[in-house]
Amino acid sequence: MTSPAAVTTAKRVELDINGTAAEVRAGLTTTLLTVLRDELHLTAAKRGCNQGVCGACTVEIDGVPMRACLSLAHGCVGRPVRTLEGMLETPCMQALQRSFAASGAFQCGFCTPGVLVAAHAFLTSDPNPDDAAIRQALSGNLCRCTGYAGIVAAVLSAAASLGATASEPAA
Ligand code: FES
Ligand code: FES
Repeated sequence: MTSPAAVTTAKRVELDINGTAAEVRAGLTTTLLTVLRDELHLTAAKRGCNQGVCGACTVEIDGVPMRACLSLAHGCVGRPVRTLEGMLETPCMQALQRSFAASGAFQCGFCTPGVLVAAHAFLTSDPNPDDAAIRQALSGNLCRCTGYAGIVAAVLSAAASLGATASEPAA
């Protein structure tokens, strides 16, 4: 919830969220996570630790996975923000969603949106990763249910299916 102090100093800011201009009110200390969840009702990014540790709030800013809980809304002006909601239809995210479901790569699911955003960025930069590279790429995303083996298997499976799709002869 937006704090009283933040409300009194709130100013209008225009942000680029998932390719759409979004005008919000934000104080100088209002985080991107607060704006996304409390003003824009984009709730995929989760408020876990709220101090930059768990990765549950991961979104892309300028194409790079970042902690929304550590990013100030005013600091995102002029920088495209993409949340999980904005990447659900990409081939990579579709493959990840299928593989996470098939592998049962979540338990409570609280960490899953942040993991998916981080995995999406990772597979975009390294489409043919091994187990160790995936663990390294997702090392900033903590899973309190400790489902890491399933998560790594799901990302490997998504990478394999994307590679298979890319190598299919054109119809
Ligand atoms: S909620 Fe942002 S890193 Fe934990
Ligand atoms: S599935 Fe529960 S925190 Fe990761």
